[in-house]
Amino acid sequence: MQSALNLNGVTITGTGFYVPTSLLTNVELAASLDTSDEWISQRTGIRQRYIAEASTDTSDLAVAAAAQALSRAHLSLEDVDLIVVATSTPDYAFPSTAMLVKQKLGSRAPAFDLSAACSGFVYALSVSSDMMKSGAYHNALVIGADKFSKIIDWQDRNTAVLFGDGAGAVVLQSRPGAFPCFSLLGSEERGAEALTSPVTGPITMQGREVFKFGVRIVESMLTKALETLNLSIDDIALIIPHQANIRIIESAAGKMNIPLDKFFVNIENYGNTSAASIPIALAEAMEQKLVRSGDIVMLMGFGAGLAWGVQVIQIA
Ligand SMILES: CC(C)(COP(=O)(O)OP(=O)(O)OC[C@H]1O[C@@H](n2cnc3c(N)ncnc32)[C@H](O)[C@@H]1OP(=O)(O)O)[C@@H](O)C(=O)NCCC(=O)NCCS
Repeated sequence: MQSALNLNGVTITGTGFYVPTSLLTNVELAASLDTSDEWISQRTGIRQRYIAEASTDTSDLAVAAAAQALSRAHLSLEDVDLIVVATSTPDYAFPSTAMLVKQKLGSRAPAFDLSAACSGFVYALSVSSDMMKSGAYHNALVIGADKFSKIIDWQDRNTAVLFGDGAGAVVLQSRPGAFPCFSLLGSEERGAEALTSPVTGPITMQGREVFKFGVRIVESMLTKALETLNLSIDDIALIIPHQANIRIIESAAGKMNIPLDKFFVNIENYGNTSAASIPIALAEAMEQKLVRSGDIVMLMGFGAGLAWGVQVIQIA
């Protein structure tokens, strides 16, 4: 199953996630917006999302997810030598959200943010695993955290129905001899204007353009990753795609003739949590024992940019 590629032994040894306590259902949203539960759930698969209090910022969501991942990895904070936070809704322009996370956790590790919107987590995992490959870092906390509720125009039904707040985290550790962590990142030549937000919002989106990109890129990432690694779909225990729209996942699964249950889907409960969606999904899949020790999973991110990235990685 191993390819001849020069890849590193880096595995996920712990996962965690956190969503705020305040639940916002489609029905509640439809009370103040010209939309309906039926429209949202049929067009997107979303039934509810969680919204953070004004006093809870992205770094708070990130810290809660990180603490759970650390505990599940049985790793002490002193051993963490790298912290990367993927977010496009930072608490401040500076210091970085990662610096706030580091401070709230009580760590001295180098920490930085990575901005690639809904592809942020797979970009962060790729950068972190490459930094570990050099041998300079051994134990990384890689976090995807976003509080899109602060950049949403709650009167815009095109975007307000899609997003939710949350954070997910993984502990990434060097493990010589482990399955190499494989990453492939890319972007479209055009489409930067299809999904945008000024620093303080609101979001603007050309929904159909983004939808078409999503369908095309999920299929293409899957094909490229399997071909490059010379793997078959049966070698992958579970595909964890970015949770943007159930129809994007269904369409890619149908075109590739892959059973839908090979893809983890939890969009109905959380909406699109941007950089947090993949690590939240992975942590839930672990909790539900859909992924077990030794399994190889495929993570697929895509979104604003238009950027995309795919990862094939082993769970320790
Ligand atoms: C946003 C999205 C769900 C819209 O679905 P769609 O099937 O493309 O729907 P359209 O945009 O063509 O709109 C169809 C109709 O529904 C209306 N509509 C749009 N949002 C609505 C809402 N929340 N409630 C009710 N009606 C809505 C439109 O005004 C339009 O009405 P019209 O036919 O009278 O003009 C879909 O395009 C999508 O998911 N795109 C990708 C978004 C995404 O994933 N973004 C993040 C990427 S990381």
